[in-house]
Amino acid sequence: MDALSTVIALAYLLAAVLFILGLRYLSSPATARRGNLLAAIAMLIAILMTLLDRQIIDFKWIAIAMIIGTLIGVFSARLVKMTAMPQMVGLFNGLGGGASALVAFVEFNHQSRVAAMPVDLAITTLLSVFIGALTFTGSMVAFGKLQGMISGSPITFKLQKPVNAAMMLAVVILSIIVAGFQPSVLLFSIVTLIALILGVMLVIPIGGADMPVVISLLNSFSGLAACATGFVVQNDILIIAGALVGAAGLILTEIMCKAMNRSLSNVLFGAFGTGDQAAGATTTAGGDKSVKSVDNEEAAMIVGYAQSVVVVPGFGMAAAMAQHAVRELSELLIKRGVEVKFAIHPVAGRMPGHMNVLLAEANVPYNLLFDMDDINPEFPHTDVVLVIGANDVINPAARTDTSSPIYGMPILDVDKARHIIIIKRSLNVGFAGVDNELFYNPKAMMYFGSAKEKVQELVAEIKKL
Ligand code: TAP
Repeated sequence: MDALSTVIALAYLLAAVLFILGLRYLSSPATARRGNLLAAIAMLIAILMTLLDRQIIDFKWIAIAMIIGTLIGVFSARLVKMTAMPQMVGLFNGLGGGASALVAFVEFNHQSRVAAMPVDLAITTLLSVFIGALTFTGSMVAFGKLQGMISGSPITFKLQKPVNAAMMLAVVILSIIVAGFQPSVLLFSIVTLIALILGVMLVIPIGGADMPVVISLLNSFSGLAACATGFVVQNDILIIAGALVGAAGLILTEIMCKAMNRSLSNVLFGAFGTGDQAAGATTTAGGDKSVKSVDNEEAAMIVGYAQSVVVVPGFGMAAAMAQHAVRELSELLIKRGVEVKFAIHPVAGRMPGHMNVLLAEANVPYNLLFDMDDINPEFPHTDVVLVIGANDVINPAARTDTSSPIYGMPILDVDKARHIIIIKRSLNVGFAGVDNELFYNPKAMMYFGSAKEKVQELVAEIKKL
């Protein structure tokens, strides 16, 4: 090994360590920014070393691509709304998968012309193009559904599953021929084409509201595609980074499924939660049961004179972008001597860590945020729970109603608090499309309106006390 190769190998090792540390720090909101920075530095090292390693002759195109990529990255990161984060992640995943597929395609084209292709190289190239192409189109459909460009409802048709199975079988047969007997560019192209179609076919039957789980799974796939591409182009850091993304995406998918008490196959094939429900369905709960509602003055008296308040944020807080008003409310209450905590359900909102990110953006101190397992024992001793645009994650039916689709989903036990004030615009159902018995609980009070306005009005009213 010459000196340059040693330096490159050591730099790759350093980048790999930084990637792992970055992931570690990303697991807590308090250290997430540092984690992001470390991972970005690792990526910079990896790119620079790869350029050095391959002795690139013409850097012109690479420089142009890097400038365009940086501009797109900076603008989209600055402009994207927090509620649109899942689709942006989906789009970027898709592009990652597409890039892996393109590299694999070019490599196959090149290798199969210059020499006989070893079987292991042919297999990794096929894997790379298959997973990458599927991830690309699957992510584009997921993006379209979340962005409202494609119907969020599950799109199904007759013989859908047999057609998908036939396409999978065709991929296996063609891959055996390409890897074992005939490294034909035409057959390889057919595999790529089928993978592109399969990506669409696998994602269209999934409801729009389940897209965050799908995106996490596709994120994992994009990592696996990159990992396979790393073997194709024999680049160690791509193998490591791809494997890390693949594993992290899978773990995240599992965490989300567990927090919803649903299996991955139920998410992928259950056509659960249509897009309409996600956007706030018009079905109202409760029939002829009555609910208690409060006005600004009553809400301010209850919240402002409480000893302890637990705030439960949900999708509605994100949709209304009420996080800054919520921070102002918490500061005001703390100033009045009220003990304030935030209860964070793992799938509150529409993406993993949604509430943590929003509250962090509004500068709510991390030490006020409590995970479900830590806060649940505290509800029986809590004066007031203030629910802001959350619904399914506080629905007691998950504990009591065996026939409910959310039965078994772990929830925040807000019904155990002394008073419950619920901010939402109506009695409409949430993502899961099921009624919420909590609204009719004698301890519960509906504080109807959009989250941001309601919290602002509450702040103004408490200031008058
Ligand atoms: P949801 O159960 O969807 O309830 C959100 C509520 O917010 C709605 O009932 C809606 O009622 C209210 N809302 C909407 N816009 C509002 C606004 N501008 N102001 C005030 N309220 C507003 O949300 P959740 O409790 O956060 O639960 C999350 C759900 O998403 C769970 O079922 C979970 O399984 C699912 N999910 C989560 C994830 C992740 S990773 N977070 C991924 C996939 C699925 P109104 O229309 O009456 O206002």
